[in-house]
Amino acid sequence: MSTALHSSKRFMRPPPQYAHDWFAPLRSCDVVAGKITNFSFMGHELIAFRDAAGKPVVLDATCPHFGAHRGVGGRVVQGCVRCPFHGLYFDRGGQCIKGDFVADPKNLRHVKSVPWTVHEAATSIFIWHGPDRERPARPLRFAEPGFFDGWSPPVTNAGRRLAPTNLFFPTENIIDVQHFYAVHHWGLDDIRQQPAEVADGSFSAVMRMTWTAGAQSPSALIRRLGRVYKSSFDFHISILGPGMALSISRLDPEQGSLELMNIILITPLNPTDCQIRVVSAVKRSFAAWDQSPLAMASTSLKKSSSRT
Ligand code: FES
Ligand SMILES: [Fe+2]
Repeated sequence: MSTALHSSKRFMRPPPQYAHDWFAPLRSCDVVAGKITNFSFMGHELIAFRDAAGKPVVLDATCPHFGAHRGVGGRVVQGCVRCPFHGLYFDRGGQCIKGDFVADPKNLRHVKSVPWTVHEAATSIFIWHGPDRERPARPLRFAEPGFFDGWSPPVTNAGRRLAPTNLFFPTENIIDVQHFYAVHHWGLDDIRQQPAEVADGSFSAVMRMTWTAGAQSPSALIRRLGRVYKSSFDFHISILGPGMALSISRLDPEQGSLELMNIILITPLNPTDCQIRVVSAVKRSFAAWDQSPLAMASTSLKKSSSRT
């Protein structure tokens, strides 16, 4: 009889792909005034558009009237989406407010889809995914007042698909110490704070790294030439939630005291695929490390968690 010690059987339950938190499947530039953007998020087919005030709106693609896809043939009219099937109009709250062939809009009160809660910040459109679409259980960290004070306006890359993967695999990899030199070829000079949960509830580490120019290039020549330039920096990485991380890299004073902020955003699209995107900002700072934006973010996180 096999014992637990000698058993060859293994079992691991994969973590849930559809976690509860804020996620940013879209960039701000993906949602253009007057147009409908179709996208997938957490296994849902959704549409995004901008209302009359320019604020982003996210609704289910499926029309609550008779189930047409509102993003296929639909139009944005005066900040509402017009379903192409029967010409009903839906506002930012998902409420049907009028119809091309409906004399009395009161008859449409029951036609509504529950809207998704949206927040535009960090050149991204964040959506709350939780048990209640309309009541986020926690605030969005990057929307805290002053979060980007002193930083350049954030910019984002287009992102890329991670397929197949589970949300928690790339999230955990972000703070995996070994991958910094195995994947990025950074020299790991010192671990000043081992990866651990810290007071603000994030999972953080602080390291001293050395970056070598061209080290990730596929070209052997560039890798060899790049070895003549190395640069040390302090690296503070924090996992803020499933699919959400914040890193601050600080160059030494002789390298201009530049700081680089990277917000790493991983979003599940469907049961097997995720998308990863990075939002970046820079600043020149002479502040002590404990006055960094990461510390500021931690402080605001503490405040916000004491409020909830
Ligand atoms: S299905 Fe959308 S208006 Fe009827
Ligand atoms: Fe990495």
